[in-house]
Amino acid sequence: MLKLKHVNKIYKDGTRAVSDVSVEIKQGEFIAVLGPSGAGKSTFLRCINRLVEATCGQIFLRGIEITSLSGRKLGGVRRQIGMIFQQFNLVKRLSVLHNVLCGRLGYISSWRSFFYSFPKTDVEWALECLERVGLREVAEKRVEVLSGGQQQRVAIARALAQRPKIILADEPIASVDPPTAKMIMDFLKEINREENITVVVNLHVVEWAKNYADRVIGLARGRIVFDGPPSFLDKHLESIYRGKETRIVEENMFFTSNRLRLTWKAEAGRIVSVRWQVEKEKGGEGTCLGE
Ligand SMILES: Nc1ncnc2c1ncn2[C@@H]1O[C@H](COP(=O)(O)OP(=O)(O)O)[C@@H](O)[C@H]1O
Ligand SMILES: [Mg+2]
Repeated sequence: MLKLKHVNKIYKDGTRAVSDVSVEIKQGEFIAVLGPSGAGKSTFLRCINRLVEATCGQIFLRGIEITSLSGRKLGGVRRQIGMIFQQFNLVKRLSVLHNVLCGRLGYISSWRSFFYSFPKTDVEWALECLERVGLREVAEKRVEVLSGGQQQRVAIARALAQRPKIILADEPIASVDPPTAKMIMDFLKEINREENITVVVNLHVVEWAKNYADRVIGLARGRIVFDGPPSFLDKHLESIYRGKETRIVEENMFFTSNRLRLTWKAEAGRIVSVRWQVEKEKGGEGTCLGE
């Protein structure tokens, strides 16, 4: 559902924050992007919804190239992308409900958005989203009186209100205490499982990635240095944190008999080639076409 092809971001001062990143993400995956501070995680995520413009490369969301869109078409794609930030990015003096309704701004006309006038169905939906994160009873309160954890749950409700196909969360648990962090990760996981919403979450703590993600993308100095299941992480943590590139390569036997030997080779948990060898004859190698 999301495809990045040779994406690079070089900031004006010459910092190369994202370096030749190509990756494909499927609908319904729960992905943790792991890497030390400065690895390029935030830039990577922001390039996806064009909060940051990639210097070059292409990004496709559900088959549409978003790197070249502007105006209304870009808005149409953006509303499919829910965004959650470390510092919540809510309007503190507005009510909780109003903040969640901001998730509907991409759907209403500009005069309505100017007056913050939302259709009744949107208000009902926003309240449902608040119910989902257990905050319906504080809908009328101003955001500034809520705790950090509650504010992050409001941000999740706002993202949900968009009815997104994908949620991008940039270090959503870095500013909350551990029990709240668990609650927030549980919500993201639940949304992912129940609604098949793709979740890409930036994290810098390995344990959270291991406990929640189906797949981990390791970034170091703007490059992907790991892409695979969390169970493979231990062996490769060094590459993520020291920036040494290692794609996971496994070799294994499929099948063997007296005459025929069949082995496979996998990178990042996917079979990429198979090799066969018939006794006393020349063997061969082929690229894997399917999964
Ligand atoms: N607006 C910016 N201008 C210049 N350099 C930036 C900017 N934002 C981030 N950087 C640099 O890009 C690199 C990656 O940053 P970032 O994407 O924030 O990484 P992370 O989220 O993994 O900490 C860092 O070296 C950072 O200093
Ligand atoms: Mg960051």
